[in-house]
Amino acid sequence: MAQLWGGRFTKETNKLASDFNASISFDKRFYEQDIKGSIAHVMMLRKQGILLDEEKKEIIAGLESILRDVESGKLEITNKFEDIHSFVEANLIERIGESGKKLHTGRSRNDQVALDMKLYIRSEVLALEGLVLELMRELLDIMKHHTETIMPGFTHMQKAQPTTLAHYMGAYFEMFKRDHSRLQDIYKRMNTCPLGAGALAGTTYPLDRKYTAELLGFDGPTLNSLDSVSDRDYLIELMSALSTMMMHLSRFCEEIILWNSNEYQFIELDDSYSTGSSIMPQKKNPDIAELIRGKTGRVYGALISILTTMKGLPLAYNKDMQEDKELVFDAIDTAKGCLVLFAGMLSTTKFCTERMEASCLSGFINATDAADYLVNNGVAFRDAHEIVGRLVLYCIDKEIGLEDMSLEEFKEISPVFEEDIYEAISLKTCVNKRKTIGAPGPAAMNRVIELYTEYLEEFHSFDRYSVKTY
Ligand code: ARG
Repeated sequence: MAQLWGGRFTKETNKLASDFNASISFDKRFYEQDIKGSIAHVMMLRKQGILLDEEKKEIIAGLESILRDVESGKLEITNKFEDIHSFVEANLIERIGESGKKLHTGRSRNDQVALDMKLYIRSEVLALEGLVLELMRELLDIMKHHTETIMPGFTHMQKAQPTTLAHYMGAYFEMFKRDHSRLQDIYKRMNTCPLGAGALAGTTYPLDRKYTAELLGFDGPTLNSLDSVSDRDYLIELMSALSTMMMHLSRFCEEIILWNSNEYQFIELDDSYSTGSSIMPQKKNPDIAELIRGKTGRVYGALISILTTMKGLPLAYNKDMQEDKELVFDAIDTAKGCLVLFAGMLSTTKFCTERMEASCLSGFINATDAADYLVNNGVAFRDAHEIVGRLVLYCIDKEIGLEDMSLEEFKEISPVFEEDIYEAISLKTCVNKRKTIGAPGPAAMNRVIELYTEYLEEFHSFDRYSVKTY
């Protein structure tokens, strides 16, 4: 295996040890970050008079040709090298000769890998933000169409009070809005440039770290070189944010699986996002939703792994930190895939709105409103609760709903009831009367929809999702 550090060794590395040590099989994914980071480093070295103009030009042209050749498939990143850093440097020297050997001046692989990872993660965070926004757009679209679609709301999986499909989708919109803002926070906090920290203690060259940081779109350089090469907090934060986001997707999938079941029939998943059974011809299974729910565990696993990897590490760089990559890459790929699949599944789902509303007719979902009716007519809430409890008991016995009782029956339990009770406990009234902000009443809901539209518009006009910052 080609290495950058042969000088002080008299023996070959054991083959298994060298394979065990190598990271190229997975860090090859940031060849672009490695090359772009090197170009910025070289520009800074030239600005500081550490490289000659000729050397800078040769190195940059060499690095750009490597990038082009990797991208066109002409140059294959093989496991012959220890890591992506060695691969790029060795190729550069092969292409341009002597000046290529100057690339690593004032740099260590420790600050180099810290930079590459940050550049990679930064663009992945933007991609994730964009995908979360796509899903939020989908949810908002459903909300706009369903402010009057009545459905049951549940507590303890028991029908509780009526709500609307817009309100229900709005709950998930809120969750993904928090996920989106968590991603933005991570980006802001991590956006400092570690290059120039060297192996751990900076370098003796007069580097202009502020300039390198600017070239790479960072807010500025990191301020402690020991921390710069050993900080992986942003990965832990990202794994935590993605775990939370996956938990939201998983809860949503759980509802979709229930709603798609024969018992609920609140929705019908599209054929394009369902699968069949090899034995039961009638089956149309919600496998995509189940898989997203299942993959949540994988992302949690990445969070626990990285926390565990980091917990015992003394300052500064330790090779344990190489373990940050595979699991973080996997978690990001998983989360991105799930976001895309989920948005596609949701956008093709048919909502069985009549069935949703019909489901509100059983389960005494308007009992709270019957109690509120009594309160509005002078009965204390605790007494009203007791009276309606008796009504429910009566109805269970007769196998009817509250709205099926005659006025005489109502009056027998409380003389306060009058003809207007029917209007007061109609599903429409139950929903419309919940007018406070955050409640399902269509007036309140429309106000929230306006706010959500503004939120999404703010990010729509923001070009960070399509533009590379380096
Ligand atoms: N492959 C290493 C990693 O992923 C790169 C840094 C190597 N540094 C070193 N001192 N061996 O962490």
